[in-house]
Amino acid sequence: MSTKIFSPELEAIGIIKKDEVLANHTTFKVGGPAAYFLETNDSEIIQKAIRIANKAGLKFAALGGGSNVLVSDQGFNGLIIKMSSSRCDLIDTNKLDADAGTSLAKIIRTALSQNLTGLEFAIGIPGSFGGAIAGNAGTSGHGIAEYVESLKYVDKTGVLKICDKSQLDVSYRYTRFKYTPEDIIISAILILAPAQPIESQKLVKEAMEKRSWQPKGVWCAGCIFKNPANKSAGKLIDEAGLKGKTIGGAKISEEHGNFIINTGKAKAEDIIILISFIKQQIRDQFGVQLEEEVRYLGFN
Ligand code: EPU
Repeated sequence: MSTKIFSPELEAIGIIKKDEVLANHTTFKVGGPAAYFLETNDSEIIQKAIRIANKAGLKFAALGGGSNVLVSDQGFNGLIIKMSSSRCDLIDTNKLDADAGTSLAKIIRTALSQNLTGLEFAIGIPGSFGGAIAGNAGTSGHGIAEYVESLKYVDKTGVLKICDKSQLDVSYRYTRFKYTPEDIIISAILILAPAQPIESQKLVKEAMEKRSWQPKGVWCAGCIFKNPANKSAGKLIDEAGLKGKTIGGAKISEEHGNFIINTGKAKAEDIIILISFIKQQIRDQFGVQLEEEVRYLGFN
């Protein structure tokens, strides 16, 4: 796809790229080009870009680490704002204030090095801090959004706002930001607790063990489906005999049923067809309706 839109004002921002292939910014390594692509964590630049995009009638969306998203083969005919930073500061002895574009791994490392506990469960989760908050990344038991005190975001009209925890609407793999990528999380403050080192090390070990048999070093987007109430989606897919099922370049992991792997040349379309095949099989075999945890971008 070549750029179908043109905004001289947007191009005047300077650091904007055109026709940037989004496969290079997702852990699935899938996705067509973004007409415009801005990589920053600067709220003023983001506000400016959003105002220009709104004036020009251009759609826009935030992208974090690209680890829990499926981007269409057509890409995104608008502006992608890729959050990118490494800022993570300790404040008030037990809080971290960090940019959305900082990697979640760095946030966890900083917490542990400051002897703060709470985030051990999230060890091994890829992606950015902002993306992890928006989708409340975590395990079946814990999600990162539980630890947010407040966050700053630029809303879809380009206004910088604050959202307190009480307004986040936190539930399993969900916050109010999950399906509104045009509300752009800029930074957040987490409240943690002082760690008992032995306890914290135990939690680190547990988290690493839990992830030890998940596929590693492959192109995927983590778990594709949310766990249905009191069930494991991966286990259902395994019991349905679907592991290894392949459509085009997309394959259900032999290690964990809830992972779809891009074996090298997968199209988003292969993955979509495989997702809908799995949903149908699980509905037919167990009467359970699976719901995607992964987010879609560029499909409308
Ligand atoms: N199981 C199987 N076969 C499979 C997959 C799982 O038998 O193919 C069994 C396991 O043996 C275990 C049970 O199902 O007894 C649960 O499996 P697991 O511990 O892997 O947990 P999960 O419910 O499948 C959740 C999160 C993961 C997180 C793990 C570990 C969801 C959708 N998934 O998986 O998160 O890493 O717990 O804490 O909540 C992600 O969100 O991307 C993700 C990978």
